[in-house]
Amino acid sequence: MKPLRIALTKGRLEKKTIELFEKLGYNCDEVHNKGRKLIMNIGDGEFEVVLAKAADVITYVEHGVCDLGVVGKDTILENGSSFYELLDLGFGKCRFALAGRKNVDFYHGYGSKTVATKYPNVTRKFFESKNMDVRVIKIEGSVELAPLVGLSDGIVDIVETGSTLKANNLEVKDYVTDISARLIANTASLKLRKNEIEDLVSKMEAVTINDNNSNS
Ligand code: PRP
Repeated sequence: MKPLRIALTKGRLEKKTIELFEKLGYNCDEVHNKGRKLIMNIGDGEFEVVLAKAADVITYVEHGVCDLGVVGKDTILENGSSFYELLDLGFGKCRFALAGRKNVDFYHGYGSKTVATKYPNVTRKFFESKNMDVRVIKIEGSVELAPLVGLSDGIVDIVETGSTLKANNLEVKDYVTDISARLIANTASLKLRKNEIEDLVSKMEAVTINDNNSNS
């Protein structure tokens, strides 16, 4: 049987996902010793892991070249969903928030506001739900810079510890939504490899439920 191919978001989520596979008893040595390699085996050939940037994880899964993916809900909300979302993995927890300069009321006044973000779709939807017409500017990274240099009145971004906002004299003005890592599946893979995928999901569920209980 060919291995199930799973796309992992490089970085923080990658580390947590590998920890999860190890908890399930799969050998992850190839991932630990990967060097610059991008495709590795996990277990005894049950899984093949592909490392990709968050938005690319969705692309690989949607196109069916990866059966499964691990990606943040933030990327899912921004990039659409022609795939199945199978499981909330319970790690990578953070939230989307609207932030702006300290002691400045973002919602004050009638003038149209400008918001910088890496997530224009999420941002537009959030302000549409408030019936507010805002100008959205897409920024690729370190969005916190935008209000500091006067490009925008606020930002919509991920807040985890809040230390990036604090270090830049910014603060949360409004809460958008909670985020965590999700297991996603290609729609055809879910039919063709149903048993293997269901088996993995129930094993992961058992571990993540235990973890969530012991953390609460
Ligand atoms: C994210 C996010 C914030 C920061 C928030 O950036 O865009 O800048 O983390 O984390 P904190 O609340 O714990 O400070 P990331 O580190 O992923 O880098 P990026 O800005 O290059 O995307």
